[in-house]
Amino acid sequence: MDALDTFGRPLRDLRISVTDRCNYRCVYCMPKEVYGRDHKFLERRELLSFEEIARVAQTFVSAGVTKIRITGGEPLVRRELDRLIAKLAELDVDLTLTTNGSLLPKQAQGLADAGLRRITVSLDSLDDAIFRALNDVDFSVERVLDGIVAAAAAGLPVKVNAVIKRGVNDDQVVPLAAFFRERGHTLRFIEYMDVGHTNGWRLDDVVPAKEIVARLDDAFGVEPAEALYRGEVAQRWRYTDGSGEVGVIASVTQPFCGDCTRARLSAEGKLFTCLFAVRGHDLRALVRGGASDEDLEAAVRTVWGGRADRYSDLRSAATTGLDKVEMSYIGG
Ligand code: GTP
Ligand code: 5AD
Ligand code: SF4
Ligand code: SF4
Repeated sequence: MDALDTFGRPLRDLRISVTDRCNYRCVYCMPKEVYGRDHKFLERRELLSFEEIARVAQTFVSAGVTKIRITGGEPLVRRELDRLIAKLAELDVDLTLTTNGSLLPKQAQGLADAGLRRITVSLDSLDDAIFRALNDVDFSVERVLDGIVAAAAAGLPVKVNAVIKRGVNDDQVVPLAAFFRERGHTLRFIEYMDVGHTNGWRLDDVVPAKEIVARLDDAFGVEPAEALYRGEVAQRWRYTDGSGEVGVIASVTQPFCGDCTRARLSAEGKLFTCLFAVRGHDLRALVRGGASDEDLEAAVRTVWGGRADRYSDLRSAATTGLDKVEMSYIGG
């Protein structure tokens, strides 16, 4: 039987963070003032091992999960990630990964060989100056584009995610769309969200999806495409000339909590039932305490069964100030 939460939402997707570290310092995610030399990242022994992750993932699949996404921080900074992919590839799930792309030139082929089915690469700007200012560690656009080429060459279908922040990179909407439309990769624009509390989020920084779509329509002509499945995060739009699709993720202006089927597992084995949750449930303690597979699955079902999260539906000035887990810890 599928696990259902208090609103009847099934558990379908599991997002697994494999590290809280990243080789970027995106100003909207890991600002240097907070994630500098003194920041305490998780230590190696605190992280779930690949064997532990695979075991936990299996119990989620038994509870109804059909899609697993690997996230970070930046997942590719975790050593030998392809070993984990090979283990998870044995499960019958849609297995994918979200990365900043910088390490893909070296790793794409190994990940594909290990059984990864597709990949999502984040790229917020095609303008090198804007991009370097955003990642704040001087990574070039070219390096990410090389990563995308390497992933495609390894046979992985590629999606590209761009977070848009007003006054920072909103002039990149049309150039990014033009570029990826030509190359046949689906691009999704993400509304800048009030995740965590280190990014100093303000509603004025958000460029509403409606505005993004209007700009795309002006430039290329777009029409709405049907959702592929209930609970799809991105709204899909088709270029009217038949040159593919583009998406918008309107988590702020048009929240989609009603159909939210996503659970998140942090790198240290805590289960979070919302991107904006304050506290996670410690599955590592169960795993390391000798729990059986049945015990683990029962714990997952109990946590999901008690779930009542719908943060984005309730978002307001009051909720924005609440304590929340950081995006780089939980992986988006
Ligand atoms: P596919 O369409 O299967 O490729 O996956 P997806 O649409 O879930 O995309 P992805 O995982 O790349 O998510 C894109 C972005 O949407 C994330 O980085 C988040 O910014 C946002 N997002 C994803 N899931 C949630 C969610 O549950 N709540 C909120 N508020 N935002 C989310
Ligand atoms: N709002 C929206 N998306 C964000 N991401 C990171 N921080 C935010 C935020 N505040 C995105 C990254 C990446 C994905 C994992 O989440 O750019 O695409
Ligand atoms: Fe940027 Fe992603 Fe790293 Fe955050 S985790 S700093 S969004 S690359
Ligand atoms: Fe799901 Fe929480 Fe995002 Fe709403 S805010 S869609 S409940 S993760």
